[in-house]
Amino acid sequence: MNLILLGPPGAGKGTQARKLVDAYDMVQLSTGDMLREARTSGTEMGKIVADVMDRGDLVTDEIVIGLIREKLGAGKAGGGFIFDGFPRTLAQADALGALMAEMGQTLDHVVEMQVDDAALVARITGRSTCGDCGEVYHDQTKPIPADGKCSNCGGSSFQRRADDNEDSLKTRLLAYYKQTSPLIGYYYAKGQLKSVDGLASMDQVAASIAAAIGPVRAGA
Ligand code: AP5
Repeated sequence: MNLILLGPPGAGKGTQARKLVDAYDMVQLSTGDMLREARTSGTEMGKIVADVMDRGDLVTDEIVIGLIREKLGAGKAGGGFIFDGFPRTLAQADALGALMAEMGQTLDHVVEMQVDDAALVARITGRSTCGDCGEVYHDQTKPIPADGKCSNCGGSSFQRRADDNEDSLKTRLLAYYKQTSPLIGYYYAKGQLKSVDGLASMDQVAASIAAAIGPVRAGA
């Protein structure tokens, strides 16, 4: 099973992708994580990517499609792929369709996570991430354990993202509405869209996604 998690910044895509990885042996492909890795590479491309991300704009289709192509070519995923933050434009959606067809794979579900914009500021400005394993925390809703150690890997370094501020969030939201939200209609028309309430608790959202995608055999 291959699925896309679609939603604005802070909708909870990364949080739910990690739950799906644990539950169904799936592989998470986050273009945001790939680009954050690229920006630390010190290359010219890394510097361009860093500027674009800090502003909150979208990186070019050419770069992100290239990254996804590379990851998909690297090997099979036991339980399938979770596309987290990709596609974000119609050109990326078309490219993903073509890549899946080339690989003889299907895109089975597109899960839209619906949230109010007002909730996103609090989610984004309260977020931190384990520097070792990427587990996502939130100052109020999922605080770092009192012993200062990540509940997933025991690591003790936590990071805040450079683009997790109100100014960048405004640009990120605008990019979402202008360039990414048309994908809701695109996948609806293809009969692949499922929508869940992303404002519910993390476990309730996970249950809604499980109900939307139906029974999945682990490792299938
Ligand atoms: P990316 O890293 O993809 O960021 P994003 O889409 O803005 O999404 P986020 O990671 O901010 O949020 P999320 O939905 O994963 O929420 P999370 O689970 O962390 O992209 C960053 C940048 O890279 C882009 O701006 C762009 O420049 C570039 N980029 C990436 N992909 C690209 C592409 N395809 N094309 C072009 N450019 C691209 O949750 C947020 C917080 O809320 C956490 O603290 C979490 O604990 C909390 N939370 C989650 N769920 C709940 C819940 N149910 N209840 C309460 N709190 C919750």
